[in-house]
Amino acid sequence: MAKDLYEIGEIPPIGEVPKRMHAMVVRPDRYGEPKDAIRDEVIDVPELGPHDALVMVMAAGVNFNNVWAARGIPVDVTKTQARWGEPTDFHIVGSDASGIVYAVGSEVTNVKVGDHVIVHAGQWDLDDPWVLAGNDPGLAPSFRVWGYDTCWGSFAQFCKVQAHQCLPKAEHLTWEEAAAPTLTGGTAYRMLHGWPPNTVKEGDVVLVWGAAGGLGSLAVQLVKLAGGKAVGVVSSDEKGEYAKRLGAVGYVNRRKFSHWGIPPRWDSPEWKDWLEGAKAFGKAIWEALGERRNPNIVFEHPGQDTIPTSIFVCERGGMVVICAGTSGYDTMVDVRYLWYLQKRYQGSHLFNDEQAAAFNDLVREGKIDTTLGHTYEYHETPMVHQLMGEGRLPEGNVAVLVNAPQRGLKDLP
Ligand SMILES: NC(=O)c1ccc[n+]([C@@H]2O[C@H](COP(=O)([O-])OP(=O)(O)OC[C@H]3O[C@@H](n4cnc5c(N)ncnc54)[C@H](OP(=O)(O)O)[C@@H]3O)[C@@H](O)[C@H]2O)c1
Repeated sequence: MAKDLYEIGEIPPIGEVPKRMHAMVVRPDRYGEPKDAIRDEVIDVPELGPHDALVMVMAAGVNFNNVWAARGIPVDVTKTQARWGEPTDFHIVGSDASGIVYAVGSEVTNVKVGDHVIVHAGQWDLDDPWVLAGNDPGLAPSFRVWGYDTCWGSFAQFCKVQAHQCLPKAEHLTWEEAAAPTLTGGTAYRMLHGWPPNTVKEGDVVLVWGAAGGLGSLAVQLVKLAGGKAVGVVSSDEKGEYAKRLGAVGYVNRRKFSHWGIPPRWDSPEWKDWLEGAKAFGKAIWEALGERRNPNIVFEHPGQDTIPTSIFVCERGGMVVICAGTSGYDTMVDVRYLWYLQKRYQGSHLFNDEQAAAFNDLVREGKIDTTLGHTYEYHETPMVHQLMGEGRLPEGNVAVLVNAPQRGLKDLP
């Protein structure tokens, strides 16, 4: 007889869905540091709609999203969930997964029970008029990040997704390697390829902030694959060497500079000191590159600390593309640099189906190192997010084993 609940690592027969499951849950009454806010609970397995799939999660990728969800800032994620008719008293973290399809809704045709998949995090209303008109779903009013703006994330034995989120898992990767890179890699793909005419081209110089981190380690590789020259920015020489091994032509250690944050007023004497700092940083980019060229694209996510410098060093007609504000949101822009040299300051958020699939194809072809830095066990989920929030994780991406019973296992069941 089917069991009501399986323990972590216990694999139910393919297609047999229990009533209850373990999940790493955040609740509004305990928002705060991830180590306290994220807790293992036993809850009901969600019901599927006609276009949904239920994936038994083998491994889940660790992303900064989950740190924000645990803290309840900048938004209370359970309030966002209310917009989609989802539970409002809890949230299951996680926007990256690898696993096996265990059930599908009545209208699903792209995947079937037993398929080995990875899940990308882009969701939208399938009947959104913007999407039905053939526009980019990434810009749709109903666009949302699964496992952040929505409830049923990947740090659970089962996750509920829209079936179009499922993509074939790269066969040569372990579950944890496969779970690690899609959210960051797909986001980096849209940032570098999604904003014509400022897409990365042969010979382009691209400055990549956090080049040894989740986004940056994949951005460096995407730049190299497109024939561009990535210069990484990092906080240690060890991280810089790591970025070079991934394909960066050189790196700048940001610890050697101190002009970060919101610059002083442009007409104050202190502003000149800021300008000297920004110029010295620009020279350090030339040295790392081995030629006197400014970045055609600046790959941004630290935000407040770095935007003034990013806008300053960007090439005439180039683009600063940003997907986050990890160090703060008050990013001062000296518009003189923007208009006079006709630079572009472009926001970018996640990806659409095509961009996720394009990135996943590069992974499946073995062209991308998934940069899995470390793997943790399911019970370590709160702690690993605490480490991420404190900037103490190792280089690259990080994954957690959910149902995958041992490190390095490739072919279950
Ligand atoms: N909108 C989207 O679609 C989207 C998608 C994915 C991620 N994100 C966001 O992007 C941000 C980065 O994600 P991630 O996965 O790459 O995180 P991560 O693995 O922690 O890497 C971020 C890197 O940024 C660098 N950094 C941190 N603070 C900095 C500062 N004040 N100045 C300069 N560099 C700094 C650090 O590298 P060094 O210390 O070596 O310099 C760090 O390794 C997060 O806020 C995340 O939520 C957004």
